[in-house]
Amino acid sequence: MHPAHHQSDDQANVSLQQLEKKMQNIIAPSPLQKIEHPLLDLWQLTLFVKRDDLIHPEISGNKWRKLKYNLLEARRQQVDHIISFGGAYSNHIHALAAAGFHFGFKTTAIIRGESWYANNPTLKQALAWGMELQFVTRQEYKQRAESAYLQSLQNDYPHAFIIPEGGSNEFAIRGVMEALQEIQQQANHPIDHIITATGSGGTLAGLIAGIAQAQPQPKVTGITVLKNAHSRNQKIVSQSQPQTKVTGITVLKNAHSRNQKIVSQSQPQPQVTGIAVLKNAHYLNQEIVSLLQQAKINKNTNWCLQTDFHHGGYAKVPLELNSFCEQFSLQTGVPVEPIYTGKMFYALFKLIEQGYFNRGEHIVALHTGGLQGLDGLKQKKSK
Ligand SMILES: Cc1ncc(COP(=O)(O)O)c(C=O)c1O
Repeated sequence: MHPAHHQSDDQANVSLQQLEKKMQNIIAPSPLQKIEHPLLDLWQLTLFVKRDDLIHPEISGNKWRKLKYNLLEARRQQVDHIISFGGAYSNHIHALAAAGFHFGFKTTAIIRGESWYANNPTLKQALAWGMELQFVTRQEYKQRAESAYLQSLQNDYPHAFIIPEGGSNEFAIRGVMEALQEIQQQANHPIDHIITATGSGGTLAGLIAGIAQAQPQPKVTGITVLKNAHSRNQKIVSQSQPQTKVTGITVLKNAHSRNQKIVSQSQPQPQVTGIAVLKNAHYLNQEIVSLLQQAKINKNTNWCLQTDFHHGGYAKVPLELNSFCEQFSLQTGVPVEPIYTGKMFYALFKLIEQGYFNRGEHIVALHTGGLQGLDGLKQKKSK
C-alpha cells in the first residue's frame, strides 16, 4: 500500500497521535452488565453481558473493535482512503462509513447486489456519512478475497487501504483482544466462559488471542474447611472438568488445626464459544486457525465453534427466534437483533438447558452490536 501523500515522519507521528486521541475522546469503554433471569437462577449461573453495543451510537459493537487498529494502521501508512466489502445491510459497512466520517477518512464500499439497495436504511445512512458505494454482481463479489481481484482493486486505487469483508484481519484481532482485557479488568470474579456470535470468525479469533496472550492469572489462595483431615503433609488435588482444568495444591500441617486446609488454586482460563450464524460453518474453524496464525498466536486455548444454531442460515429469522429475541429484551432490558446477538443468546439459553455449563460458573456474553440492522429488517418485513 502506498502513502497518499508524503509527510515527514514527525508530521505522520503527530497525525497518528491525534487520531488516537480523537478515538479516546469519542469511544467509551463499554460496561459489563449483570443479567437477571430465572433460567440462570435455576442453573445457578452468573451471566454478564459486555455491552459493546454501547461503545458509540454509530460505530458500535465488534465493528469498532475490528476497525480501530485498521484505521490506525491506515493513518500510520499515511493513507486516507479506506475500501471494504459488505452485503446491503452490513453492520461493518455502516460502522466504517461512520468511522470515516468521524475520523476523517474517505470510504468506499463494494456492495453485493443491485444499486436500488442504496435506499435501504443502512446504505442511506452510509451515503449520508459520505461513503462512496459501488454495487457489484454476486459473481464479482465472490472474488472479494482472491489475491488477483484485490491486486486489481489496489491498482485502481493505489492510495487506498483495503479491509476485508467484516473487517476480519490481524488488525481486527488486536482490537478484539482489548475487549477481552476490559472484561478481565471489569469482572470481579474469574470468568469460566465467554460466548460470542460468529460470522467471519474475526471476533472469536480475537477473544481466543486475548486469552492466549493474557498474563498468567494470579493464584488464588483460600481457606477451606474439611471433615476428615487425616493426611499430615501435602496433598495434590486435581479436578478435571470437561472444559476447564483446575489444579490446586493443598497443604495441611499439624492435624491440631482440626478442620482447616489451605488450598492454593491456579485460576483456569475461560473457554470461548462462538455461535455460528451461518449454515455449514465448519469451514470457519480453519479460518479462525489461519487468522490466529496471521496474528502469530500459537498458544493453545480452550475454544469451540457451535454450528447448530444458525436457524436455517444467515439472516434467516424463524418465528421462534423472533419471539425469543422480543422476550429476551423485555426480560433483561438488553436490546438484541435476530441476526447475530439474538442467535447468540438463543444458543446460550439452549446450551444452559442442555447442561453445557457447570453450576456456579460465570459466563460473559459479548454483545457485538448490530442494532442498526433492525431498521432494515423492519423495512424488509413491511414489503
Ligand atoms: C453484530 C455482529 N455480531 C457479530 C458478528 C460476527 O463477527 P465476526 O465476523 O467477527 O465473526 C458480526 C459481523 O459479522 C456482526 O455484525
